[in-house]
Amino acid sequence: MRPTYPVTELLGDGIGPELSKAVHALAESLPIRLEFRSIDFSLENRRANKKTVYDEAVESIEATKIALKHPTATVEESPNQVLRRRLDLSVIHRPVYTIPGVPTNFRRELDVDIVRIATGGTYDDPGRMIGDDGAVSLRIVERRPVREAARYAFGLARKTGKRVTTASKYTIQKATDGLFESVAREVASQFPEVPHNAELFDALLGKLIMVPEKFQIVLVLNEYGDFLSDMACGLAGSLGIGASANLAFDASSVVRVALYDAAHGTAPDIAGKGLANPTAIFLALSMMLYQLGEIGVGHAVKNATLDLLRQGVRTRDLGGQESTESFTAAVAAEVSRRLAKPSETTA
Ligand code: NAI
Repeated sequence: MRPTYPVTELLGDGIGPELSKAVHALAESLPIRLEFRSIDFSLENRRANKKTVYDEAVESIEATKIALKHPTATVEESPNQVLRRRLDLSVIHRPVYTIPGVPTNFRRELDVDIVRIATGGTYDDPGRMIGDDGAVSLRIVERRPVREAARYAFGLARKTGKRVTTASKYTIQKATDGLFESVAREVASQFPEVPHNAELFDALLGKLIMVPEKFQIVLVLNEYGDFLSDMACGLAGSLGIGASANLAFDASSVVRVALYDAAHGTAPDIAGKGLANPTAIFLALSMMLYQLGEIGVGHAVKNATLDLLRQGVRTRDLGGQESTESFTAAVAAEVSRRLAKPSETTA
């Protein structure tokens, strides 16, 4: 019997239904069973059943612990923000890497895991005017989410044999960024085998461009992570094919709930035309498989997708000829081929 994992799937807008179909087709080729509990998270349904649809999603995700979310239109509320708040998703993990063959202006190779504290920083306080000529806002750094993010980053480094770099402005923002670095150092001391260094955030931006190979896992506060993710995606030429894990933790900083999604939006201009590129949602799926402990299957999904892109099997947005359906069929066939050869699953 195939191992079975219940997964909450949030169905979105625009190209969301096509991406869901692609994920289900790919899932059929896997040696495990993903038992999708699909929830209609479309704008129409969110408008009609606002209270119940969020309650239903949160309840299902709390039960399955794992979720895959398709892009949703932000018109009134931001569904991502609501879910982040209601599920206490305090950390975002975004791997960013260059894919040989995918066009980019950057000539070097980049392969970095950005672990971002998803709460606080300057983003929780919109600020206020002081008279007519000044304005002020609070910058908030809390021990708990920093500790959760740091344990996640160092745990990832331990599993993958990578280095952790923390980056902040601790020389200037002595209280906030100083607290961040001190919590990170505390956690680092529990992972003595993991190499760790601290960089000033501005220096990190320059060095990441000049010597990208020096950076493997970068742990940062909220706004720095926001800037860094987009810069790194731009360097990798892959704004449209990035994927993230949004994570909530229990009292021992163990992942309690994980929600995976693609970085791109609903692409209304191409919806329903069979043109959607499912790469990002497949990469989100592969991250989800790692979290389920299905490392070999996760590798097969990721490497099959990337190798096909490298070989020129691509959808039109990347200069290829494939439709959503034909690209999905190619990935599914390649995943099956790889998983039939046990030595390739651990590559
Ligand atoms: P977008 O990412 O949907 O589209 C930007 C451009 O990239 C469009 O030309 C689109 O066709 C293309 N594109 C995006 N994903 C693609 C894919 N998988 N395959 C091929 N081409 C793709 O960004 P935009 O236009 O700013 O936002 C559209 C809607 O998406 C908005 O309602 C926005 O609120 C929502 N959105 C939702 C997100 C989420 O749910 N995580 C994230 C970003 C935007």
